[in-house]
Amino acid sequence: MTVRTGQEGVELSDGVSIPLIGFGTWQLDGNDAYDGTRAALDIGYRHIDTATAYDNEDKVGAAVRDSGLGREDVFITTKLPPGRVGREAQTLDASLKALGVDFVDLWLVHWPPNGEARPDTWKAFIQALEQGKTRAIGVSNYSVAQIDELIAATGRAPALNQIPWNPFLFNEREVAELRSRQVVLEGYSPLKRSNLGNRVLQEIAAAHGKTAAQVILRWHVEHGFVVIPRSRRRERIEENFAIFDFELTAEELRSLDALGA
Ligand SMILES: NC(=O)c1ccc[n+]([C@@H]2O[C@H](COP(=O)([O-])OP(=O)(O)OC[C@H]3O[C@@H](n4cnc5c(N)ncnc54)[C@H](OP(=O)(O)O)[C@@H]3O)[C@@H](O)[C@H]2O)c1
Repeated sequence: MTVRTGQEGVELSDGVSIPLIGFGTWQLDGNDAYDGTRAALDIGYRHIDTATAYDNEDKVGAAVRDSGLGREDVFITTKLPPGRVGREAQTLDASLKALGVDFVDLWLVHWPPNGEARPDTWKAFIQALEQGKTRAIGVSNYSVAQIDELIAATGRAPALNQIPWNPFLFNEREVAELRSRQVVLEGYSPLKRSNLGNRVLQEIAAAHGKTAAQVILRWHVEHGFVVIPRSRRRERIEENFAIFDFELTAEELRSLDALGA
């Protein structure tokens, strides 16, 4: 994909566009969550990833409000902890209250509860969507077989699956399986689980005058994978967003894909 700005997105099956790059907030507590989100929005990110389990929705919400941006300008994702099965609606209401918003943009089942797909939980997600409390619904850490269970039970596929992802985890078959079901792939832990010192990455980074982290993030957006890097340092939040002024060649993309083989 030719992606030239950090605001460009991919269309979810729910009819909503999700910006390809977002700011991850796991393990950002208190001031780090507030300062990080403020910095990200200031730099140009328009998509923030949080979760009930991160215990920082109030700080993320305050940062969005204080940014001066309109609610509709920022894409907010939050997630249902698997332990809240049976209390889906109450949990989403608590998220909305903590964030200080009337709706989120994307609500995910954080993990398959007890390793199971749980169509009953998925039905509660569909209800929340119909009630306008979220603009799109999806899952995280689900296998394709578990996604198929949800589709079989409800006729509705998750709009997105958030999974660990980076060139070292690239798996063409998984990409094809998700695409054929119109499930957008969102990658998490893009940097933490990568070997930033890898020679192929380093050579490509040097050729573009970029860092290995930037090459990994650019690889995601060129493939149309949504990516949500996290940092508590402003200079890195900025570095991770400075990926719209270069393009990887087809050959570079192929050698990065091959890291996952
Ligand atoms: N759905 C799920 O189950 C799930 C699981 C994990 C994560 N997530 C989401 O995905 C987001 C991202 O994943 P993550 O937080 O696990 O890991 P990540 O974004 O891959 O990596 C974060 C780590 O990399 C460092 N870092 C950031 N930018 C860097 C750069 N340019 N160069 C070198 N190091 C850099 C950070 O350190 P500094 O802070 O010191 O910069 C931090 O230690 C999370 O924040 C969360 O929103 C979801």
